[in-house]
Amino acid sequence: MSTVRWSLERQPFAAPVGGMAAAGATNAGWLIVRASGGGYGYRVGVSVAQARMARVGRWAAAGESAVTRRLHRAFFATVARLPRPASRWAQARIFNGLFASGTPWPYAESSYESTKRDHLISGVPERARMIVEVGCADGHNLELLAARSTDARVIGVDISSRACSLARGRIRANPEVSSRVDVVHTDTTTFAGRRHDLHGCVDVIVLSEVLYYLGSGRVFADQVKPLGRLLAPDGQVVAVHTCADAPALHTRLANALGLTPTSENEISADGQAFTISVLSR
Ligand SMILES: C[S@@+](CC[C@H](N)C(=O)[O-])C[C@H]1O[C@@H](n2cnc3c(N)ncnc32)[C@H](O)[C@@H]1O
Repeated sequence: MSTVRWSLERQPFAAPVGGMAAAGATNAGWLIVRASGGGYGYRVGVSVAQARMARVGRWAAAGESAVTRRLHRAFFATVARLPRPASRWAQARIFNGLFASGTPWPYAESSYESTKRDHLISGVPERARMIVEVGCADGHNLELLAARSTDARVIGVDISSRACSLARGRIRANPEVSSRVDVVHTDTTTFAGRRHDLHGCVDVIVLSEVLYYLGSGRVFADQVKPLGRLLAPDGQVVAVHTCADAPALHTRLANALGLTPTSENEISADGQAFTISVLSR
């Protein structure tokens, strides 16, 4: 049965827009209808309940069908096309919804996830001294990267404050890595643009299951290009996405950063397949 709740609260217009797109992408039966107030005037909008949003993530993570995958991608492509502050705001809110009751993806339980993690870690050269993971979620990759490369400093970036809290908690609980891992709550572009101290210093940038959210065309290029400034001259980007998405996403990434794929592997686990690409100058 569908659940409709009404509430009156202050919020920018992006929520209704993102919410309506999400409603199309998920299940229009579960809607929260909000009337927003304050400096934006009164507007009535629609946003999907957080529990419903978490399902988008679960679809993306495990056993997704071609249809739900397309809907998921279309939804996030729509969000990415919103004007910049609105798209950042909507993304942060959506991912906070997904992380509302812990991690939405079965990182600990799924053999697909653990296989992906193992391949990702082994795709990162051990000599790396500075590693950045964009879209680090609850920090599972950060922890392993830091444990494997014991001289490396590792920085995780995520647009969701809840994901960052989970990641910080995970890292704090592991004294072997805690002094070498930082988690930064911001989006890809802001991080790359503001961290002048890292420009030309990053040996490896990890982009795993995150490019789906950065749109396409100019929107994608504008968000991704600043990452190129972080890379050391012999730096590498390690990208991991589902086999269905990787050809387009990894080509888009290589073009935006002016890099060339030096290796590309397709790996299957638990009935799903992912591609891991290493890109360099
Ligand atoms: C599917 S999870 C991937 C987690 C991890 N990288 C992995 O491979 O298991 C995507 C993560 O990217 C984050 N994210 C989405 N858009 C982002 C952006 N524009 N900037 C930074 N993080 C973003 C989300 O909050 C989420 O934690």
